[in-house]
Amino acid sequence: MNKGHIRFPEKGHDADSMLSELRAHRKGDASWREGRMFGYIYHAGSREAKAVEQAYHLFWNENALNPSLFSSLRQLENETVAMVADLLHAGEDYAGNLTTGGSESIMMAVKAGRDWVRKHRPDIKEPEMIAPVTTHPAFSKAAEFTGVKVLYAPLTPDKRVDVAEMEKLIGKNTVMLTASAPCFPYGVIDPVEEIAEMARRHNLLFHVDSCLGGLFLPFIEKLGFDVPLFDFRVTGVTSISADMHKYGYSAKGASVILYNSHALRKSQYFVMSSWPGGLYASPTMLGTRSGAPIAAAWAALKTIGSDGYLKMAEKVMSTTARLQEGIESIPGFRILGKPVMSVFSFTCDNHDIYRVGDELAKRGWNLDKLQFPAALHMTISNMNAGHETEFLQALREAVKATDGEKISEASSHVLISIVRALSKWLPEAWFRKLSSRFTSLMNGKGGGRATGAAAYGMTVAIDNRSNVDEIMLDVLDRLYSV
Ligand SMILES: Cc1ncc(COP(=O)(O)O)c(C=O)c1O
Repeated sequence: MNKGHIRFPEKGHDADSMLSELRAHRKGDASWREGRMFGYIYHAGSREAKAVEQAYHLFWNENALNPSLFSSLRQLENETVAMVADLLHAGEDYAGNLTTGGSESIMMAVKAGRDWVRKHRPDIKEPEMIAPVTTHPAFSKAAEFTGVKVLYAPLTPDKRVDVAEMEKLIGKNTVMLTASAPCFPYGVIDPVEEIAEMARRHNLLFHVDSCLGGLFLPFIEKLGFDVPLFDFRVTGVTSISADMHKYGYSAKGASVILYNSHALRKSQYFVMSSWPGGLYASPTMLGTRSGAPIAAAWAALKTIGSDGYLKMAEKVMSTTARLQEGIESIPGFRILGKPVMSVFSFTCDNHDIYRVGDELAKRGWNLDKLQFPAALHMTISNMNAGHETEFLQALREAVKATDGEKISEASSHVLISIVRALSKWLPEAWFRKLSSRFTSLMNGKGGGRATGAAAYGMTVAIDNRSNVDEIMLDVLDRLYSV
């Protein structure tokens, strides 16, 4: 029985009315064209974006499932991987594939690690990997799917992983170490060379997650910025993920997963020779794969080129510097850690930073919120260049708007104290009740994005994270219902 009012369409609509319905659906979406969105959208400028879009359309219906039927796609994938391998100084025996994004690339690296030990270290029955706490949740997700357990290592005060603490976690089941270049929360690069040395000493695989930096760090290194080594120049790095749909400025659905050897990549593959439907072989997670993002990734590299990426990187880094300077000129405000590139977060001592975030959102600037410590996050890319003054003006206004608020009056703090008190004695199931309130905050009701402070305040206050996980599961369930 259909619960909502949505029914399977009786008759096909004409394209015009269908398209106007689609356009109407977009009206409530966040807008990005004014350069007020950070991360989520990467746009290289109208000429380049148009070329990428045309490449995308050219292959919108092609299927990369069968590498012999659409050999063009196989070639485009191999060439894209080769170009990124060149950028990241891969050695002669490198191998790689295009996936649909950072999460899939990470999933593949973890799957390859698991199957590698199955083959080469059959004594390891319960494989484990060790990751910095700041590593992207995609590693935890991959752990859930693959059965590889993830152990988290803490940070040193500079927000990079503590290598000595990481080493303490190495045991007889350890398969893989990971590092981020850079990590999402603070934009810092973990000590890749030290971890690689440790990986070599313990004979472990080592994945560097450069989903954010893979198509950016090499260019700022060329521009003379101080970038610690993070790629295949470091002996001991066995795989790297680098996203085309972030600083590669390609269409969504493209990331490169690279290995230092064909032998390791083979553990990523899935084959089934006993299926009545025929011999089945699939390199990555998906079966049917759209040709569009593959063609678009290739087109982005070709149409932008090293000179284009360098120009954008230079612009983005000077925007980043101006923004960081402006933020730190506000009393009490500071950048967390020492970000290497254009990804950073900031907090302050004298205002509720989540409330500042809400006030910014009211003014059209949507920044992600971080927790432990509470902070606001920025990923600066090409579209944000030239909007520094506007942003800093909005930030000063947002700070002013929350100036008068005594901390105890801020909505998030009221909620924090209530929830913290309740979370001590209420059963786990009770927290599901909170999720309907949370969902409406997420859904744009009751102030929409601008009420994030309340929503975040609520969850940050709950000490038992499994209660928060329960709320989040419930929220997801509600959001993905008609
Ligand atoms: C460092 C890092 N790794 C992995 C990912 C996952 O990428 P995706 O969202 O494309 O799956 C992200 C996304 O922001 C990231 O910042």
